[in-house]
Amino acid sequence: MSILFSLENGNADLWQREFATRLPSQQFQVFPDVGAVDDVEYALVWMPPIGDLKRYPNLKAILSIGAGCDHILRDPDVPKNVPIVRLVDDVSVRDMSHFALHWALHFQRNFYLYAEQQRDGIWQRHSYRDISQHCIGVLGLGGMGTPIARMFANLGFEVVGWSRGRKAVDAVTCFAGLDELPEVLARSTIVISVLPLTSETAGLLNCDRFSQMKAGSFLVNIGRGPVINDANLIAALDEGQLGAAALDVFDVEPLPTEHPFWKHPRVYVTPHAAGPTKDISAIKQIVGNIGKIEKGEDPHPVWNWQLGY
Ligand code: NDP
Ligand code: OXD
Repeated sequence: MSILFSLENGNADLWQREFATRLPSQQFQVFPDVGAVDDVEYALVWMPPIGDLKRYPNLKAILSIGAGCDHILRDPDVPKNVPIVRLVDDVSVRDMSHFALHWALHFQRNFYLYAEQQRDGIWQRHSYRDISQHCIGVLGLGGMGTPIARMFANLGFEVVGWSRGRKAVDAVTCFAGLDELPEVLARSTIVISVLPLTSETAGLLNCDRFSQMKAGSFLVNIGRGPVINDANLIAALDEGQLGAAALDVFDVEPLPTEHPFWKHPRVYVTPHAAGPTKDISAIKQIVGNIGKIEKGEDPHPVWNWQLGY
């Protein structure tokens, strides 16, 4: 019986060593050296090659080496009879939260203006609104969004959150569904999107949504790139409707060199770096989920075919 590991540029040696210690009964096969396809019971993957997963007839589960599963679902032939297990570990949650905090403070304390001024040698201090006068709007209140919303509330920001179904999060005013999105956008001075990519979220943040946001407000996207309409965002920035945007995720990654985001003075690009998977904490979670499946228990969290996330 074997485990397939498919993660381009991953530290395969470390994963192999850890699995040899933690799950010695399973062969650990690093893609493309898969061995007998019939032996593969678990596929640990990030961006698996299209068409590969259907080659393993005895698969028991696909385990994503990341929280989002769109990298697996881009394959139309992905097997539908086995669970796709998501990865949400505490270290990534913490790092995503810190990343969101960095950008919120960047905008709240005018660091983006000071960076521009430094290029021209301008010594000019700007006043700033207290955090209690900033409203953080967190889009997506799941495994990532909820702790992010809580962190901002604990720091003294006003926080509003938005999800599909209604949530209750301490000190966060929660909204749900498309009908309530305009209110979230209208109240927020800094919108942070931690939404997964689904048929409903694709293109959600477009010119209509940007016009519902407060004039001069900020956008941080750490969920998925296609949630934003890029051309509409650039227009909203150029018109001054939005003050600036910090973007970690994109329609096409790596972001193509000719993309206007690279050179836009009010766009901050990071290379999908908000909450990278950390090997050891990911391995612990994945081994734990394989252990559950072997005992006949349900792994957690599982990607939902009906909801698309
Ligand atoms: P979850 O599945 O736990 O949460 C998703 C949240 O989005 C839920 O609150 C859900 O609502 C909400 N949501 C989904 N669809 C809609 C919709 N149509 N309208 C309103 N709300 C919606 O995911 P995680 O929090 O674990 O992760 C979120 C995403 O973050 C991942 O899918 C991935 O794309 C991204 N990510 C990015 C990383 C990076 O490095 N940039 C790192 C890790 C993750 P409800 O609560 O009602 O179900
Ligand atoms: C993830 C990611 O989904 O890193 O985990 O984007």
